[in-house]
Amino acid sequence: MHKKLWIPGPTEVEDDVLKAQAKPLFGHRSNDFTLLYDSVLTQLRKFFKTEQHVLVHTASGTIFMDIAARNLVRPGKKALACINGSFSSRMYDTLVDSGIETDRLDVEWGKAIKPELIKEKLDESDYDIVTICYNETSTGVKADLEAVGSLLKNYPETLLVVDAVSSMGGDLLLPDVWGTDLVFASTQKCFALPPGLSVVIVSQAAYDRTRDVPNKGTYINLEKLLDYYGKKKQTPSTPNISLLFAFDYKLKQMLVEGAENIYKRHKAMADYTHEWALKHGFGLFAEDGYKSVTVTTVENKLEKDVGDLNKKLAEKGFVIANGYGKLKGLTFRIGHMGDHTLEGLKELLAAIEEIWEL
Ligand SMILES: Cc1ncc(COP(=O)(O)O)c(C=O)c1O
Repeated sequence: MHKKLWIPGPTEVEDDVLKAQAKPLFGHRSNDFTLLYDSVLTQLRKFFKTEQHVLVHTASGTIFMDIAARNLVRPGKKALACINGSFSSRMYDTLVDSGIETDRLDVEWGKAIKPELIKEKLDESDYDIVTICYNETSTGVKADLEAVGSLLKNYPETLLVVDAVSSMGGDLLLPDVWGTDLVFASTQKCFALPPGLSVVIVSQAAYDRTRDVPNKGTYINLEKLLDYYGKKKQTPSTPNISLLFAFDYKLKQMLVEGAENIYKRHKAMADYTHEWALKHGFGLFAEDGYKSVTVTTVENKLEKDVGDLNKKLAEKGFVIANGYGKLKGLTFRIGHMGDHTLEGLKELLAAIEEIWEL
């Protein structure tokens, strides 16, 4: 039996979207491809109300951690990594493993990183980039990206790099208004597509910066990716055309529902899950005022066995996620993202209540 994916990615993919991939292929140097790719990027620009550069790359979202590290920090310059969970830690590790001198700004997991703390760091030292996770999938904490972006506007040499892997397309995101410089995501989360593609929205300042950074390789060379698109409206290497068919199809649906309505649907699912957890004696791991709308990290105060729950949920056609990394067992996570609805969520929570006799 298929288990509906209530994990924070990959999430459920509807049958019509799966089928949209199954079309005869054409070459990636053909006019048909140019039209397809342009349609995807035009719809993305419209959805995010952006005039920045937009690209889709064939790789999961993590590639843009490497791309940010290898394209935006000039020789001898430093990075600042805001760290409050597993994925922001991965960004830090990527910077360090790319040989970049990186300062850490840590806060307790479950808490958000406030602009005041970032400001202190920016006033102490010069940074080429600040990295932040918009939606920490491990802790269920979202950043106040608008406030962070507003702060960064006072530091024009410092670019804002945002991991929006688990909230782009679900939560609100306004790159131009908020002043982000490189925001990236993967297709298997809020876009409700299979994994394999990533999306990036890049400011002109970030594009210009790439020209001052040497040794950027090939597949992760942002300057080449952007230049190539600018000249040919295509990708420099062979993309996953089948997934782009599905993405094109999915974006049409997303534009009909609209970014604001999609956000409201996610918020309603998050609010419902929060109330449900508290009503049954669990806690919420994320700090008040900074709770994700796409994933809820529930504090397992009742010390329930999540592994056993998932075995029983499987018989009813559902799966949820255990806590991530060091939070395994201490928390469990419900991913309410993509095409999920409040009605579907109520069915899942009723099944959990029955199994755990809540
Ligand atoms: C916040 C965040 N960043 C990065 C990643 C890694 O994305 P991918 O697996 O698409 O490379 C994930 C995956 O869950 C994530 O949730």
